[in-house]
Parts: sequence; C-alpha cells; structure tokens
Amino acid sequence: MCGIVGYIGNSQCFPILIKGLHRLEYRGYDSAGVAIIDAENQLKLCKSRGKVAELESFCQSKDVSGTIGIAHTRWATHGEPNDTNAHPHVSADGNIAIVHNGTIENYNVLKRALMKHGCEFKSETDTEVLVQLIQYIKQNNSCTLVEAVTESLGQVVGAYAIAVVDRNTPGTIIAARKSSPLVIGIGDDATYLASDATPIIDYTDKVVYLNDDEIAIIKKDEPLRVITTDNKPSNIDIQTLKLSVSQLEKGGYPHFMLKEIFEQPSTIEDSIRGRVVNNRIELSGVNLNRSKFVDAERIIIVACGTSWHAGLIGKRLMQDFARVPVSVEYASEFRYSNPVISSRDIVIAISQSGETADTLAAITLAKKMGAFVYGICNAVGSSIARATDSGTYIHVGPEIGVASTKAFTGQVTVLAMLALAIDPGTVEQLSKDIEALPSLIKETLKLNSTIENLSSTYTYVHNFLYLGRGYNYPSALEGALKLKEISYIHAEGYPAAEMKHGPIALIDHELPTVVIAPNDDLHDKIISNIQQVKARGGSVIAIVTKGDKAIKEIADHTLEIPKVAECLSPIIVSLPLQLLAYHIAIKKGCNVDMPRNLAKSVTVE
Ligand code: F6R
Repeated sequence: MCGIVGYIGNSQCFPILIKGLHRLEYRGYDSAGVAIIDAENQLKLCKSRGKVAELESFCQSKDVSGTIGIAHTRWATHGEPNDTNAHPHVSADGNIAIVHNGTIENYNVLKRALMKHGCEFKSETDTEVLVQLIQYIKQNNSCTLVEAVTESLGQVVGAYAIAVVDRNTPGTIIAARKSSPLVIGIGDDATYLASDATPIIDYTDKVVYLNDDEIAIIKKDEPLRVITTDNKPSNIDIQTLKLSVSQLEKGGYPHFMLKEIFEQPSTIEDSIRGRVVNNRIELSGVNLNRSKFVDAERIIIVACGTSWHAGLIGKRLMQDFARVPVSVEYASEFRYSNPVISSRDIVIAISQSGETADTLAAITLAKKMGAFVYGICNAVGSSIARATDSGTYIHVGPEIGVASTKAFTGQVTVLAMLALAIDPGTVEQLSKDIEALPSLIKETLKLNSTIENLSSTYTYVHNFLYLGRGYNYPSALEGALKLKEISYIHAEGYPAAEMKHGPIALIDHELPTVVIAPNDDLHDKIISNIQQVKARGGSVIAIVTKGDKAIKEIADHTLEIPKVAECLSPIIVSLPLQLLAYHIAIKKGCNVDMPRNLAKSVTVE
C-alpha cells in the first residue's frame, strides 16, 4: 500500500528518492511521483501513473536537481490511478507539496468548506484537500508551516502519514503520523524518511519510529525535533536497525516469492533459535507474563488474510496443548462487532507487516476494554509490535513478495511454540518435532520440479477447490488464497466434509480439487472425500504422507511430504501449496511478486 520516501541533506535527492521508491514497490501501488525543492527554492513536481521505472524515464528529460525532496507510491483509494491523482499534491499557490498515506475520512466536509472560500481542486483525492487546508491556514493565520500542519491535522478525521515541503520554508520537511507508519533515518549529514526502513538501510542503521500524533520537524542543519499534535516536545528514541541490504534482494532467484519459499528451512530455524531449550519451550513474552496466561479465561485471536489462517491453526494448537478456549476473528469484523471482552481475556494479534490497519484498530479496542494484548509480528519495531503489551517476533526476515509464504510458516511455528510455552511442562517429543522442521522443509522443497511440471496441466483452468480437515482445514483456505491472489484463478477452500453440503455441486471434469491428506487421525475420512470427488469426474491432486498407497491409487496426482507430527503438518503442507500457486501463476505470465490490486501492507480500512 502507499509508500513515502523523503530526503534532506547535501546530495542530489532524486536518485535517493527513486531508489527508495523501488524498495517500497513490494507494498503494491499504481502510480508514483516526486517533489523536489532546489537551491533557488523552486518546487519541482514529477508524477505519473504506472511503475517507478516509468516515472524515472518520464523524469529523464526534466530538471530534477535539488537536495530536499519527498516521493510517493500511490495505491488508489480516492479516485482512479492516473497522473492527476498521483502524489505529491501541491497547494493552489504552488508553494506546498504533500505526500500522504492513509485516508482522510472527513475530506468531503473539508473540501466543501474550502471550496466556499474559493479553493479549486484538480484531483479527486482526499490528500489534495489536506494540502489546500494547510495552505489556507498558513495564509490566513500568517503562521509557520509547522503551525499550519498542526492546525490542519487537528481538523482531520482518519489515518495518515504525511511529509510536507514548502518553498517558503526552506531546508525543512515536516512529517506526521496517525495509524500509518513513518520511520526517520538519521545519517551523518542527511536525514531520511520512509514508510518502513527498507529505503533507509542503504544509508544508515539509526532510526526513529514516529508515534501516533507526533510531528517531526526535519531541518537540513539542525537536529531532529519531534512534537506532539498538542505541541509538547516528544522523546526521540534512536534505535539501531537489524536489517541487511542482502535481505532485500532476490539472491539469484527470479522472484522474491520463490526466494522466500526456498528460504523457509533457515527462516524456521531463525524462528526457533533459542526458544527450544532442554525439551522445553521458552518464550520470554510468555515467561514475563505467565500469570496472565495462567489466569486467562479465553484467548481471542485477531488477524487478517493469511495471518488469520495461521490464527485458525493457532486455535487448534492452543486448544490441544494449553486447553484454553480460543476464538479466531477477522480483525475487520472484530472491531465493529461490539465484542464482549474482559481483563481476563488475552487477545493475540497476528500480523506479518505489523501495520495492518484493521488489526491495529482491533488491538486498540481490545486494550481499551482491558484485555492483555499479545502480538505475533514479523516486522520489528512495527506499529503492532509497539502497540501490543508483549509478544513474540517470528524473525523470518523481510517478506517482499506480496503473497505471504515464509511469514505464514513462521507464524504457525511461533503459535505452536506459544501453545506449548503456556503450559510449562517438558514437551520432549514435540520440541524435537519442532527442531526437525527445518530439515523436513528442506526435504519437502525437493517437490519443486514435480510441481513445476504438474502446473502445466492446470495453468488454464478457471476454478479450483481445496479441501482439508482438522489441522489442515485452514491449510485448504490458505492454499486457495495463495492461488487466487497470484494467478487470478478463482479458488475456494473448504473443510473436506463440508463439501457434500454444497460445493460438491460444482464438481465436474473441469474443476480440479487439491486435497490435503497427510496421514493423520482423519485419514480414512478424507479418503472417502476423495472418492466423492472422483465419482463425479473431478480430478484430484492429493498432498499425502510418503508411502500412502491408498490415496495414490485413487488420486490423479500425489505430492508426497515427509512424515510430520499432525499438529505441525500445516507448516509442511503449505510448501507444495505455495509452489503450486507460484508455478501456475508463472505459467500464466502473472507478476507473482506484485499481483494486481494487492498491497503488501494494508494500512487503510
Ligand atoms: C496473503 C497476504 C494477506 C495478508 C493480510 C494480513 O498472502 O499476504 O492476506 O496476510 O493482508 O497482513 P499482515 O499479516 O501484514 O497483517
């Protein structure tokens, strides 16, 4: 979703801004632009629909010199993706430029009021309203830029991260945030600004995460100053990034998604490291808050998308091992469902990016109602990681491909460890099973070429059904989501036994069914489900445990995975599901790393 980059220093900013925008491409966007203030305090604006590379070539014939600039990748919310709606937006007098992530909910009210004062608008965006408001207030109150920004934000309802430059306020960028992330990088003789740390890591590892309702005053030759929206000085907490540039590159793979699939032996090793100790699971977040977990009457998991699927598996794990009742809610529904929550409840928020607006809002609500909120995040220092009372990082490194792969397996691994850590007994066999995961993943990834060949058979089908039971019912949902988001093939996931209550009507020779059928307690039952599909002419791709002769005889294709503990099987079965989606999408010519319409970090409702 939208990305912001800013630079102020002594170097030419255009190449730094463009490199930063490229780093943020993974978030998903449909247009891009830059605004630069040059040595004569002229404001230069370039923006275009399409990719950052198109903006770059558009700017080739333009003067983009200057050492102060802001830049943006836009994921359309208000108004279609076109050159006019692209950011930055500029005030009517041509002096002030803004980039904005988030949504201004009362933009229509503000727009009407400004129009009454003679303001004219060029774009359909909510963002242009904000820059016109800043200009209007600055002009009419004869105040400074920072005062005008502060006053304007006081009138705004919604979520924002903004960066503002003004040709009449030289050597300055003003940035502010509410519910949408902003990171400031402190270099030796320059300051950087971005939606996440990926554009900054090339230049400095010293960063400040802006908090909600804070405004940063970034000046060329002065130390960073941060104030709150009610004009009180804020503490500046400079943190050191633990991120390397190599983690942000493809490392020889054709796509980030494939790289991230193949990284899983090591990412799961990283998730586990230091947490399985003498046949016990040690999670500091649980150890430090043991009484909360012991006294918990209920656990409510909130998450979205793939993280919600991980949450469904987490429910089963926690019910089986910690024997505590668990419910799993879509964060977007939870926040508007008038939930009944008490101080004896634990809310677990799962999020790869740590920036998902709905999950963040669910956390705010749960905290307000007295619950203890525990986060399971990947992005270190993210808004969700900081908003929760405690938590466990999954530590799988930056996930760039839009389709979540290694974060999902990291989340399930952490949820398994969490379930075992809540009850502090020794869990000898299961801790060994967890430690064995990296090598089982490595073995499973050998299916890659088989799946690549198999994908040719299914490249041009229009629909897919995914079935699973027990621990692997959520795997069916996740397999279907992975396929639909990157290949645009419609796919549905179902609990296998539910098929006969409706979806069975769809089955014919044109509808392939992926059945997740490892050797578990429900194995015999799932064999009957496969037979029901075959009896109606459907073809079956079955994911089975090595040596499963019974299913091999009836399925059209079998993908054999190594034997794994039932409760950890969703981690292993997710690998062939990821690879199947990847290869089908590649054969269809889809952009797997940046599928249409999708954003990596969903920072709006
Ligand atoms: C699917 C996918 C999304 C995310 C969802 C939540 O592959 O990536 O469904 O899982 O948008 O995002 P996070 O986990 O960042 O909160």
